[in-house]
Amino acid sequence: MDLVKSNSYLSVMEDNNSDKKQLRLFTRDEVNQEKERALVIVGKFVLDVTDFIRNSLHPGGSDVLAQFIGLDATGAFEAMGHSMRAKQQALQFVVGKILEKS
Ligand code: HEM
Repeated sequence: MDLVKSNSYLSVMEDNNSDKKQLRLFTRDEVNQEKERALVIVGKFVLDVTDFIRNSLHPGGSDVLAQFIGLDATGAFEAMGHSMRAKQQALQFVVGKILEKS
């Protein structure tokens, strides 16, 4: 089962963040128009990858990630088949959630 989409993975993300901070809700436009930070969308979540990119910490390289700044990287993140460790690492970057139109 795809862990990014599965409830278990999402609940890990929720649990990891709920007690620490109130997640800000973003529209996709707000993520796209952010000027201060490098934000990417993975699943329902908004990740701040500013330092990850700036400090060249992504094992897959900064460029592949940088091309998704302001955009939805879910498909690429999943297609790469990232390890559980990578998914856990992604949790640390969560700063918000996508406000889906109802
Ligand atoms: C945003 C959060 C992301 C995190 C925390 C992350 C983390 C990682 C980690 C830890 C690895 C090492 C292999 C593994 O453990 O699976 C990796 C590899 C890789 N990542 Fe990411 N990644 C992210 C996003 C992306 C995105 C959006 C792409 C888009 C294409 C991408 C492309 C790759 C590629 C191509 C590799 C393979 C590098 C290689 O084996 O030569 N990653 N990533």
